[in-house]
Amino acid sequence: MNFLKPKSIIIKGTGSYVPEKIVTNDDIAKVVDTSDEWIFERSGIRRRHFSVNESASDMAVKSAKEALESAGVSPQDIDLVIVTTVTPDMMFPSTACLLQAKLGIRNNIPCFDLEAACTGFVYGMEVATSMMQSGKYKNALVVSTERLNPLLNWEDRTTCFLFGDGSGAAVLSYGEEEGVGIIGNVLGADGSNTAVLKLPAGGSLLPTSAQTVADKQHFIQMDGKEIFKNAVRIMQEKALDVLDMCDVRPEDISLLIPHQANIRIIETVAKRIKIPREKVYVNIEEYGNTSSASIPIALNEALKEGRIKSGDYILLVAFGAGLTWGATLIKWH
Ligand code: ACO
Repeated sequence: MNFLKPKSIIIKGTGSYVPEKIVTNDDIAKVVDTSDEWIFERSGIRRRHFSVNESASDMAVKSAKEALESAGVSPQDIDLVIVTTVTPDMMFPSTACLLQAKLGIRNNIPCFDLEAACTGFVYGMEVATSMMQSGKYKNALVVSTERLNPLLNWEDRTTCFLFGDGSGAAVLSYGEEEGVGIIGNVLGADGSNTAVLKLPAGGSLLPTSAQTVADKQHFIQMDGKEIFKNAVRIMQEKALDVLDMCDVRPEDISLLIPHQANIRIIETVAKRIKIPREKVYVNIEEYGNTSSASIPIALNEALKEGRIKSGDYILLVAFGAGLTWGATLIKWH
């Protein structure tokens, strides 16, 4: 069978969703010894949204519906579903299969989860793009969805304020002209550095037991300083690598959309790659770190705010547990 190769792969539509419940820094200061001032100054976060009873797939449905609608693509026309998450509804089946059923997407297409922690969306786009380049998949739905609040240790003031819940989605489709859409992507990982950010129990190494629960092994454990140092160095390197690969200069970038982990990481990276602050999209104040959902939420908001127009170069850069990292360059269609 002959498949027609695409001229380009574009982001045809985007969507996002965050749960209603807002938790402020002052709310957190009632539980651990901290303050709004400290949290904002050290991280740039003021609020985050917490899901009360919505699972990762429930939130994914909402962001995906908006993305499908904005793309003008019906669920019946989706050929591939990738969900990126560190908080799947359950160990199996995949959240992608749960989402497929909830959206009424047809059943003769691949649906799977991808776990690359905070880099999930950038990984997901590369996997979707590569599969689409075969000519076999015309429309892909990539959804990043995270319910992190149940993983927070409310006795650890160094991590509990950082994270929030939410979901972001993109519909990737074939473009009509060459040289636009997703034009470059670099990915990487360093599995020798897993200890700096992990959730140890609940998998096959440390199956859930009364002991793992008592030992608080089901919560996020993080060495903030190590993450910070690595994030700054690697995000900067990978942003420059993808620009180099595509022969695009930092001054050509209209908008940098970095993973929203800490305002100080974002500002340092932007400064080092010489992208001025006004060309950097930041919404961490409102949502905290929503892991892989942070970039697609930001992308959707940037589009709605009119900050992206045809011909713009948009640079995405992410970093997360694994360690994993990635950068994507888009020339907006
Ligand atoms: N409130 C008040 N004081 C606090 C708090 C808090 N919530 N947390 C820590 N402190 C104290 C510490 O105990 C320490 O006190 P000491 O000097 O008496 O020992 C002091 O504040 C400074 O602590 P540091 O850990 O040095 O603070 P730092 O400036 O490194 O900021 C932070 C901590 C915000 C966690 C930072 O390291 C960070 O953001 N790291 C990156 C983490 C991250 O982004 N993780 C997300 C996952 S990976 C990713 O998405 C990229």
